[in-house]
Amino acid sequence: MISQEKIAEIRNRASIVEVVSDYVTLKKAGRNHMGLCPFHAEKSPSFTVSEEKGIYHCFGCHTGGSVFHFLMQYDHLSFPEAVEGVAKRYGIAIERSERAGASKEFGERENLYRVNEQAAANYQEMLFTHAEGRRALDYLKARGVDEATARKYLLGYAPQGGSGLLALMKKENVSLNDALRLGLIGQRGPQQFHEKFFARVMFPIVNPAGKVVGFGGRVLDQGMPKYLNSIETPLFHKGSTLYGLYQAKEGIRQADRVLVVEGYLDTIALAQFGVAYSVATLGTALTVEHVRALSRYTKNIIALFDGDDAGLKAAARSFEIFIEAGMFGRAAFLPKGEDPDTFIRAKGKTALEAILDQAVPLADYYFSWLEQRHGKSLEGKSQIAGEISRLMAKVTNPFEVDLLARRAVDMLGIREELLRRPAMTAGLRAAPSPSRQAAPSSPENRDDVAERSLVSLMLRVPAVLERFARDGESRQWFSAKWRQFVDEIIAEWQELGNIDVAKLTQKLPPALASECAALALEGENLSDSECAKMASDCLAYLRRKHVKVLGRDLRTAIRVAEEQKDEQAKKERMLEWQDLLRKERQLERPGLEPKITIR
Ligand code: UTP
Ligand code: MN
Repeated sequence: MISQEKIAEIRNRASIVEVVSDYVTLKKAGRNHMGLCPFHAEKSPSFTVSEEKGIYHCFGCHTGGSVFHFLMQYDHLSFPEAVEGVAKRYGIAIERSERAGASKEFGERENLYRVNEQAAANYQEMLFTHAEGRRALDYLKARGVDEATARKYLLGYAPQGGSGLLALMKKENVSLNDALRLGLIGQRGPQQFHEKFFARVMFPIVNPAGKVVGFGGRVLDQGMPKYLNSIETPLFHKGSTLYGLYQAKEGIRQADRVLVVEGYLDTIALAQFGVAYSVATLGTALTVEHVRALSRYTKNIIALFDGDDAGLKAAARSFEIFIEAGMFGRAAFLPKGEDPDTFIRAKGKTALEAILDQAVPLADYYFSWLEQRHGKSLEGKSQIAGEISRLMAKVTNPFEVDLLARRAVDMLGIREELLRRPAMTAGLRAAPSPSRQAAPSSPENRDDVAERSLVSLMLRVPAVLERFARDGESRQWFSAKWRQFVDEIIAEWQELGNIDVAKLTQKLPPALASECAALALEGENLSDSECAKMASDCLAYLRRKHVKVLGRDLRTAIRVAEEQKDEQAKKERMLEWQDLLRKERQLERPGLEPKITIR
């Protein structure tokens, strides 16, 4: 693990607004910055970044934390990877000594990455220096890929007789277990290892942070399988990985759109011919995770399909994926028989972009496909209505629900409420507004609201914190869920004399970290007297609740003592109970409520 001091240094040097702005357009709003949340679909900004507190929080989807949490979430990094990312951005070196005692999991992932990097570098060297590499380079050249593009995509070659990976691992003291786990080598018997990839052009698959997570390897001839891909590993999940995203990041930002294709060589050919904003799925269908990942870079996603019936059907089906990810996507179609690679090589960038400019909303294909499949009979219409309301149930964005409902009404001639109501409420429930969340809505979460509010006040108002730090007993009034958190806050305050929310978030598990960020940002606009009133009310409520619980426990203890005929215990418990009742009566007298004053 990187030492706590180093992490603090990096966090203090970094500006969370700057780092987040690399990915999200932020605008100053009062003391904070606001923008459209990159982690869920929204039309008005609820994503809040506080420079002063070093945290972010989305009031729509309730994610949040420190600058490191942001990178972890955005680029799917581990905590230490995120720390390194920030350090790198600010030119802060992390010395070996500062990483002493590396955590096991981090160490393992780092080792796996290193093995992949070494393998990729080795394949790349083979492409340019091995005797057989020439053939592979010629193959790429014949397909229009020049050396600069080959280097940009880290392309390599695994020779017929192997790339010497095993010898390299031995020399570098790399555990063969790691190479086995990554699917780079296989094992036939004790000490009998062999390389998995040979006689193939190698396509390293790079994650958005620029690290090699896996490989695809293509034969140079008609051999089978055409592509061999890495197995699923802790670093590599096909269903959420997009080939070429790392290389396309900048292009996507500049064009403010992304083109989704199917093949490694499609993306590479597109880049070669000047379309720098394409990514490829890895031979799997597009997933909700893919679309979500892309939606962080641009809201303008175009999927490119074949111009045949299968292509039309694929476009229709992918609408469901897009809408579930909170995006409307668009579809563009190539002429029959072409794929992106052959098309751009033959016709060039301008012709391809002309096709993209005519991209049509996926919804259009979805609705006409539904009609085609079920027909216009009464029964067909009712089947369509069923499909649409099933889809609506998965959609959380009210705008999208609205679109679906309107289209269905037009198409089916039914009353809008029939489709709309259930999904609409589901949508609102999935994305409650901050005010809604703060309101004590039902009795079973009222306790939690009081505790939440108090914790929030502790994070923002020193007087409230002081009150709890002084009086050890009142800490006990918090339920187990909050007590550890409260103790952390108080310990931090007693040690430093102030509260560093960003640092606190790091001590907490991710779910609590985002809650902590939310609490620190809630109610910033309340006046001191409003805060004092709120704190006093919550405190009184919690104490009353605590007393009630004590009373209930005592009554149980008395009953148990009676059953066990333990007169002594019964007498003691009775006295305690009477004591408690007396205290409770006292507390209810006006003027004795716990009060907090804020100067
Ligand atoms: P394609 O068959 O369209 O290949 O498969 P391609 O990318 O256009 O390659 P070329 O042009 O024939 O060289 C599309 C994607 O499906 C996956 C790969 O990710 C490929 O890029 N695939 C295909 C495999 O994983 N294995 C295969 O055997 C074939
Ligand atoms: Mn192809």
